[in-house]
Amino acid sequence: MSYPDVRTRRLRRTAAFRRLVEETRVAPAELVLPMFVREGLTDPRPVASLPGVVQHTRESLRKAAAEAVSAGVGGVMLFGVPSRRDETGSASTDPDGVLNVAIRDVVSEVGDATVVMSDLCLDEFTSHGHCGVLTADGSVDNDATLARYAEVALAQAAAGVHVVGPSGMMDGQVGVVRRALDAAGRADVAILAYAAKYASSFYGPFREAVESSLVGDRKAYQQDPPNVREALREVALDVAEGADIVMVKPALPYLDVLRAVRSAVDIPVAAYQVSGEYAMVEAAAANGWIDRERAMVETLTAIRRAGAQIILTYWAVEAARLFGNR
Ligand code: PBG
Repeated sequence: MSYPDVRTRRLRRTAAFRRLVEETRVAPAELVLPMFVREGLTDPRPVASLPGVVQHTRESLRKAAAEAVSAGVGGVMLFGVPSRRDETGSASTDPDGVLNVAIRDVVSEVGDATVVMSDLCLDEFTSHGHCGVLTADGSVDNDATLARYAEVALAQAAAGVHVVGPSGMMDGQVGVVRRALDAAGRADVAILAYAAKYASSFYGPFREAVESSLVGDRKAYQQDPPNVREALREVALDVAEGADIVMVKPALPYLDVLRAVRSAVDIPVAAYQVSGEYAMVEAAAANGWIDRERAMVETLTAIRRAGAQIILTYWAVEAARLFGNR
């Protein structure tokens, strides 16, 4: 069979044509910038494995958050790096702990001009580096961890955060956090659930950024990469427990999961383009092996196309400017 008159290339001939028929666009407001703040720093400190990303001081964090707002990003996600860690991650619930202080700083700087989110987990705060508290035999104690998450949620809410992001993959974490917030009169605080978070090799550079002390791995609580039906089950549970937004993480190696989640729920779906995804492109670009800006645009567009309506990315500010000017 031949179709001599059908020419698909006509609509690709010029940039104007391509723009006219573009099916997927990324808007600055859909991008969320993850940011790190390190206790006790006097100057911002570069993270070697994440070129362009720094551990912020209190001051530089405020400034960078304000810059992100003027670039038009939809939100910021804050991670704290404490100078002291212990078994239960007590700095996470201390009102003077690095992350709670940072939330207060950023909210006072940007107010409601963007959505301020915080990582709700213990791994940055525990001496063993796990996302929860441990039992005597060294495994993560699910229910004892939930009690800590409820306390962390209240501390972050008291600091003024708009959205908490429980990221530890404990069973029941969204429900516990929702009930704790509601009981404290904080029904206004939303939950971004790390619903389908895989035990991924792509978190490598993040561990440097938060100076993780983890020995071993998180395979007993994060998801196994081969599984997609299991992700849908995790997502359904999180929605039932009160998640306002569900997230898939990492993004690019899990576009099929993202697509399946998008089809399964009617609440907003987010994806986290994680540290290793960013570092791969930056490293290849630094070697001259790949066009950095094109790879940035292409990966973010692919994640959007697969179904993410919110994307967490370390490129958020630069990408917001790029997409905003297209
Ligand atoms: C856990 C957390 C991690 C990331 C975000 N939240 C690390 C982990 O699960 O090991 C990784 C993000 C990234 O790699 O960019 N608090």
